[in-house]
Amino acid sequence: MNFRELAEKTESYIIDRRRYYHQYPELSEQEVNTTASIIKDLEALGLEVKTYESVGAYGCTADIVGGKPGKTVALRADIDALPVCEETGLEFASTNGCMHACGHDCHISMLLGAAKMLVENKENLNGTVRLIFQPAEETGFGAPAFIKAGVLDGVDAIYGAHIWNVLEAPYVNIESGNRMASTAEFHVEIEGLSTHGSSPEAGIDAIVVMSAIIMNLQTFVSRNNSPLNPLVVSVGKVEAGSRWNVIAGKAKFEGTVRTFSKDMLEEAPKAISRIVENTAAAYGATAKLSSFRWLVIPVINDDEKLVKIGQEAVKKLYGEEALAPMITQMGGEDFSFYMQHVPGLFGFIGSHNPETGKIYSNHHEKYDVDEEVLKRGAAVYAQFAHDFLAE
Ligand code: NI
Repeated sequence: MNFRELAEKTESYIIDRRRYYHQYPELSEQEVNTTASIIKDLEALGLEVKTYESVGAYGCTADIVGGKPGKTVALRADIDALPVCEETGLEFASTNGCMHACGHDCHISMLLGAAKMLVENKENLNGTVRLIFQPAEETGFGAPAFIKAGVLDGVDAIYGAHIWNVLEAPYVNIESGNRMASTAEFHVEIEGLSTHGSSPEAGIDAIVVMSAIIMNLQTFVSRNNSPLNPLVVSVGKVEAGSRWNVIAGKAKFEGTVRTFSKDMLEEAPKAISRIVENTAAAYGATAKLSSFRWLVIPVINDDEKLVKIGQEAVKKLYGEEALAPMITQMGGEDFSFYMQHVPGLFGFIGSHNPETGKIYSNHHEKYDVDEEVLKRGAAVYAQFAHDFLAE
């Protein structure tokens, strides 16, 4: 099977599906119509589809059973969109106020393209390919819900990829080691004492306390953490005060932590809590880390055999020059949860192309991809599945 040629023939189908799904994005945990359309597309390929509404999740899976017995490999695409108001000006722009600003429309269509190629050549497959169209990646709900529902039952390995603006089109990145970080969301609440702006001595200024806490949190990164360990603590939202001449009695803020370190999964909430409580105490205020939640664990390509199959698949398809290195990303991906259960590999498909104006990052209201890469992404899905099963 020459998946490069097959992908060439499948390209118009892939682009057609991408543009369709791009027009009708749906937010995480609301992917009703997206799921219905994917089911229709899979049934048109003659596949039997399984849904998961009984466990409160949209999305679906389908198995392509090969002509010869063998292992089972899963290919995963996420299908949810973002609450971003599209400004691409594309002919096929979103029609409903949210947007496939992370490119999951491309993931759906690349996996459909791969499915089409694999179905048409299933007699040559040694085993089963499970297609996973997963909902709610952006909220970290989808992968755990799907795993709980049993989508990995019988699966020997899983491959997923993200279309990514940091990487030039039409390169593919598959490399071992840290790929995407674990991601936490945290909230802090501060209790001071409100008073008139002219008499600070009569109150405890929650805004000053909050400012001190936010500054001190950075010392956790710079002073408590090894400079060799990637760690990010960012505060993205603060809320305090009611008026220019009133000292705020309450304040709250929220932020995120990114890391690859397993130790940090336990250490970060403890350290943040310590800094929050003790900084507040130094000012005579009280404060607490009111919530801290790891949304995803890190994506680490640590199965060398799968890395090799993935890299060889790309080389076979488009030559060694099609593979490009890419630095570790501090963004998060709930694909990591699959990798906790079965050997997994995560790749990136480059979508950045300044010549055609594809310069905006994932999640930007003008994010768009160089569609040239979609056939490559689909071919890599198919080749990886075929080669893993042929091993
Ligand atoms: Ni994404």
